[in-house]
Amino acid sequence: MNEAVRQPVLAANWKMFKGPETTRTFLDRFMELYPAHSDRSVVFFPAAISISAFLAARSGRDDLEVGIQDVHTEVEGAHTGAVSAAMAAEAKLGWGLAGHSERRQEFGDEDAGVGAKLGRLLEAGLRPILCVGETLEERRAGLLEEVLSRQVESVLDGLAASGSGPWSDKVLAYEPVWAIGTGETATPRDAAEAHGLIREILSRRAADEQAATILYGGSVKPDNIEALLAAEGVNGVLVGGASLDPDSFAQICLARSDR
Ligand code: 13P
Repeated sequence: MNEAVRQPVLAANWKMFKGPETTRTFLDRFMELYPAHSDRSVVFFPAAISISAFLAARSGRDDLEVGIQDVHTEVEGAHTGAVSAAMAAEAKLGWGLAGHSERRQEFGDEDAGVGAKLGRLLEAGLRPILCVGETLEERRAGLLEEVLSRQVESVLDGLAASGSGPWSDKVLAYEPVWAIGTGETATPRDAAEAHGLIREILSRRAADEQAATILYGGSVKPDNIEALLAAEGVNGVLVGGASLDPDSFAQICLARSDR
């Protein structure tokens, strides 16, 4: 397993917040509070329109990595409003999200399309984060494992077909839909259970599944970050609301992690 890859990943998903100016203001303050650390990766997913402002404003701080929130399933074409993984690579981004629950719910992204997006990210040389997670109804109906299996396995089919590289390159994010933006956080025990299930699902298909990095997302805050990072199998976090404020995201990024 590649240790550099398995160090904790602290990722900020800014969703549809922050234009170029507010991105610069955020970074001015964040860079004062958070000096570069070699034992963790900090990654931002700004809105596409603010990415060049981010890259310019982080000057000299290449430790603050940048990714794209979503890509199209095609490399290029007549798809108004969309961005491709190849374009993100050309903009020198290192990461890309695929399958965020808001994309699944609001934009109709389905498992097969999510798999295609993940394939495009890998082809373009970006490090993908595959987002999976169950709704409250699915959890209450006892469908956690079934939902995670469906979401992960449909992507594995596509990856097997494209002969994609080792799992040490890949990241999944377990984001229970009921914990996103609700203030309701999965307990460290819930997170550990789901992360264990995801690794088990991967192990049915991939020999090196233990190398995958699995993040937790859903109402992560400065006051629950250390407990979540200490949970079994949790290799980092994907943060929405609490990443919009430089002080609270800096606290999250500075959290102690023994893993
Ligand atoms: P919140 O941290 O706002 O719950 O959002 C989580 C999320 O969706 C990150 O991708």
